[in-house]
Amino acid sequence: MTLRSLFLLICLFSSVCASPRISAQSALPEPERVAIAIEALSRLKGADLETNPSLKMAVTKVLVATRGTPEFVQVVRDFHVQDQNPGLLEVAQRHPAEEAGVEAMRLILASQNFALLASTFDGTNQITATRTVEALGNTRDQQMVALLLPLITADKPDAAVRRQAVRSLAQVQPGAAGLLRLAEENKLPEDLKFTATTELNQVRWSEIKTRAAQILPPPVAANTEPLPPLAELLKRAGDPARGAEVFSRQQVGCVNCHRVNDKGADVGPALSEIGTKLGKDALYESILDPSAGIAFGYETWQIELKSGDEAYGFIVSETPEEVTVKDTKAILTRVKKSDIASRRQLKTSLMPVGLQQTMSTQDLIDLVEFLSSLKKAGSK
Ligand code: HEC
Repeated sequence: MTLRSLFLLICLFSSVCASPRISAQSALPEPERVAIAIEALSRLKGADLETNPSLKMAVTKVLVATRGTPEFVQVVRDFHVQDQNPGLLEVAQRHPAEEAGVEAMRLILASQNFALLASTFDGTNQITATRTVEALGNTRDQQMVALLLPLITADKPDAAVRRQAVRSLAQVQPGAAGLLRLAEENKLPEDLKFTATTELNQVRWSEIKTRAAQILPPPVAANTEPLPPLAELLKRAGDPARGAEVFSRQQVGCVNCHRVNDKGADVGPALSEIGTKLGKDALYESILDPSAGIAFGYETWQIELKSGDEAYGFIVSETPEEVTVKDTKAILTRVKKSDIASRRQLKTSLMPVGLQQTMSTQDLIDLVEFLSSLKKAGSK
């Protein structure tokens, strides 16, 4: 451990400090002192707190100062601090769909403190309950199934929380299978059927998806007419302004994965200049048959963990110790290589097939016209 870092830390939090340079820093405003302390701590990562009381004191102070923020999670994780579950839960509830919140929830699950989580479901605050359930889903940790599946058929909590439980359960195979079983046994409450239908008809496990289409058939698709052949589609003109509207439509879902200029999510590639890269024929192909040509760097990986959990998505970075996977919600997960049982690259795109069924033929033509109009400034 670097003694200097430790020194700096202690000085930052006490007014008595020999070094004039450092004591000048302890006169800094709180946020800046905390930032310096975190930086110093990051160099001491992994050090044992029990054998080092002054470090422990510094860590404790930083935890108080960073409560509710992503830095709090980082410090708890780096120093394996125990008994910080309430603070972790706060971050998970504040950022249920971001890396820090999901990481916080994973740490809670790792500590097996299920009672804490269950108490939020029974609580009166519907928003915190919903957010807890959302963060649980985003961990993709199968331990959530035992916690969330019982909520589906319970009288409490209210519908919004239970609907989120459906969405969260559908993120992992045993959760989706559990929902399907409830539907088969006719135990799925009426107020959850719509959400369950939407979710289960778009899972990536083909057996579940096929069975879901039988027991919970999706509402008749907007496009019941057969699609004209590609040559015919290419001849028809579209309206780019209507196409932009189709692109943003929730039911179609493009915006949940793609960004156009400053709107949309960063799961798939940004499409702000896609009209320069792809002609209309290739644009149709990208939508109708996503796996035909997978964009470079967007190959899908399935990683099985020794715990039985799995990570699914793109590998965005890799070091000798860990890989970072970005999932279908753009959440980053760091997986230790020593926890991996196997990993394989899939031949299928992460982009779902059949999206054309969520729109009419004219919608599709307009959509392609819109994408085709997105060009690099100055090019035609
Ligand atoms: C679940 C996320 C997801 C959804 C929803 C989705 N896409 Fe994609 N899309 C991707 C990913 C990931 C890729 C990159 C892999 C590939 O090329 O298949 C991609 C690739 C593309 C490409 C090719 C990009 C290139 O640079 O080659 C186009 C065009 C595209 N999508 C358009 C659409 C449109 C239009 C919609 C809505 C109808 C849509 N996508 C919905 C995830 C998604």
